[in-house]
Amino acid sequence: MTSDLPKAPKSSEITPESVYFNRRTFMKAGLFAASVAATAGVYRQLNRLPRATKETARLAGLDSAPVVDASLSPDTVRAFHSDETPTPYQSITHYNNFYEFSTDKDGVAGAVGDFSTSDWKIVVDGMVSKPTTFDLDDIRKVARPEERIYRFRCVETWSMVVPWAGYSLRKLLDRVQPLSGAKYVAFTTLFDPSRMPGQKSDVLDWPYVEGLRIDEAMHPLTLLTTGLYGRELPAQDGAPVRLIVPWKYGFKGIKSIVKISLVADEPPTSWNRYAPDEYGFYANVNPNHPHPRWSQATEQRLGESGRRETLMFNGYGEQVAGLYKGMDLDKFF
Ligand code: MTE
Repeated sequence: MTSDLPKAPKSSEITPESVYFNRRTFMKAGLFAASVAATAGVYRQLNRLPRATKETARLAGLDSAPVVDASLSPDTVRAFHSDETPTPYQSITHYNNFYEFSTDKDGVAGAVGDFSTSDWKIVVDGMVSKPTTFDLDDIRKVARPEERIYRFRCVETWSMVVPWAGYSLRKLLDRVQPLSGAKYVAFTTLFDPSRMPGQKSDVLDWPYVEGLRIDEAMHPLTLLTTGLYGRELPAQDGAPVRLIVPWKYGFKGIKSIVKISLVADEPPTSWNRYAPDEYGFYANVNPNHPHPRWSQATEQRLGESGRRETLMFNGYGEQVAGLYKGMDLDKFF
């Protein structure tokens, strides 16, 4: 994000999967793609029902498939699963932005070493009735993880499709009972330069911080993310717990979270503090609002050769546009 132009994906990223993967990985990916295709088909069927229920999923033979929250509208359920082909695991885990470890996207996976998440705690505090410190077991017990296949769009114009696992952040926030004065949610990444060597440099002000308005944080699409491709989240993608907000640029997806605070005022965010004219608090994906140094009209999907048109709200407008009624989306970048 500090370079003059968005860095192009490496050539390995635009090589067809079949060449890029070794045979074993490729076979696994093929199996996964088949199961995703089958699951997507069933989801399309579920979407025709007025209410998708767990029972419907069970009858459809989806016992081990993602749980569908019956309280959600069919539109929201549809938004949970893009039926686009997921980006290969290898690419998602070897082309990263995680400045706590490296500013080189191809170098993060190699730099995480044996980063350990044992004894991890997440403090949820601020304007809540029940401030709580969760360990990872507590986090897992809040709700069963669902698989969410989301488009992911980085502000640097590369994009991917990712099968994340997790549950709506709302479920965790409900546990601590936000008070009516809480208007925003502030997130903080671990600060420990001995384990995150990038924090010894001053490339950003540490720790990395992010924020959402409370209604954005409570939106069912906003995912407290603990997994990727049905496995635990690898360190380079933000283990053990990160945020994913699929209609916003990727930098809102703060990694390795240790603190979530409910607050009254708009909290500072790392990239906005670094360059306020380039990275806004809202950061909704918007093809009509160019970054001061490059267009946002198109994007480079990892693994593809041509560029695609970028979609307003990254294609999630039907679900989230209502959150911004009356706001000038260009002004509130
Ligand atoms: N979170 C922290 N703590 N540190 C970071 O450097 N980078 C952000 C976001 N979350 C970042 C972070 C940016 S710029 C992007 S695009 C995404 O993480 C990248 O997520 P990925 O590496 O899993 O693709």
